[in-house]
Amino acid sequence: MVSKVVFGNVYSNKKVLVTGDTGFKGSWLCTWLISLGAEVYGISKDIPTNPSMFVELGLAEKMKHFFADVRDLEAIRKLINEIEPDFLFHLAAQPIVSLSYRDPIDTISSNVMGTANVLEVLRSYTKPCTAIIITSDKCYDNVEWIYGYKETDALGGKDIYSGSKGAAELIFKSYYHSFFKKEKGLVQIASARAGNVIGGGDWALDRIIPDCMRSWSEGKVVEIRSPKATRPWQHVLEPLSGYLQLGERLYKDHNLNGDSFNFGPKPEYNHTVQEILEDMSVRWHFKNSKEAFEVTGNIKFYEAGLLKLNCDKALFHFQWKATLDYQTLIEYTSDWYYEFYKNKGDMFEFTKSQIEGYENLAETKNISWII
Ligand SMILES: NC(=O)c1ccc[n+]([C@@H]2O[C@H](COP(=O)([O-])OP(=O)(O)OC[C@H]3O[C@@H](n4cnc5c(N)ncnc54)[C@H](O)[C@@H]3O)[C@@H](O)[C@H]2O)c1
Repeated sequence: MVSKVVFGNVYSNKKVLVTGDTGFKGSWLCTWLISLGAEVYGISKDIPTNPSMFVELGLAEKMKHFFADVRDLEAIRKLINEIEPDFLFHLAAQPIVSLSYRDPIDTISSNVMGTANVLEVLRSYTKPCTAIIITSDKCYDNVEWIYGYKETDALGGKDIYSGSKGAAELIFKSYYHSFFKKEKGLVQIASARAGNVIGGGDWALDRIIPDCMRSWSEGKVVEIRSPKATRPWQHVLEPLSGYLQLGERLYKDHNLNGDSFNFGPKPEYNHTVQEILEDMSVRWHFKNSKEAFEVTGNIKFYEAGLLKLNCDKALFHFQWKATLDYQTLIEYTSDWYYEFYKNKGDMFEFTKSQIEGYENLAETKNISWII
């Protein structure tokens, strides 16, 4: 049997450093990198939730994790120089909008100075390194139009979290123009912008799916007050495939140095909260949806703040596109939590099996990062 080639095998036997490895996206990314044969390292300041995907998967024993704060320049300088990564994915950030209202300075210092510090260390790094800086779709100035936002659109942010991600993008660009632009430089950098994601293993506060899974695990009926609110649902593996493919392309093609890329869901992923909970409840074997959730309001939802990403640039440069259909997105997300809460399965193996299933689906659909 011919084995598949995933991301051009560039991560195999390479040292890959993930900041924010103990978080939701970081844990998925590290698990994927481990399965790609990378030597994985991580830096985070804490384990942000309990339960935590990082803990449940036993990732501390499968990679090399260090506790450090990205706001501490000398601490991360020492670690990065000791680790000597070939690739770096910078995800460490305070990602919750509501917390950014409670403690703006904490969000700004982690998200803006944290990014500046990582770039500052890379500025004097003496080995080749490909670095992907993860920001967010919220980095754009949301002018509430219906079109997809392009990488050249204005940056902005009306709340602190969004502003911090817009600022991180500006810092990224100024470091690029000031230090990383030179030909034949050792360090190549790019930034990646994606929207909200769902998937197993997220236990963050104030997110609808984690809140719902916690309630179902305790046999509680979930109350929904805005059943018609529509969201562009996207599985966490989709932007991660974009980050990894961007890393591969940047490693091979230095012409992408300094560029930014959007990674967003397909438009047909737009479904209401009620639809997604109904579909997820089927996978939890509820006899009818009344056992799973109750609609206690019908707040007419003005979809302010929702913005769509235009992903033509990633499609043009490396034919990136999303892989999963809506039904598989539901299955992957719902089944992960069901396996955790009800079957009490081995979550590292289960997560790896979802990643393998995702790779197989991508191969069937001729997605460009797998052959
Ligand atoms: N989850 C989403 O839907 C989503 C959407 C768009 C962008 N993002 C971005 O993706 C990244 C990861 O998000 P997530 O949902 O996995 O978040 P998370 O809260 O699950 O994880 C955050 C990680 O960053 C670490 N961290 C936070 N502040 C730090 C600091 N000062 N120093 C060192 N480590 C620090 C935490 O310890 C944790 O490992 C963030 O940059 C976030 O803004 C997430």
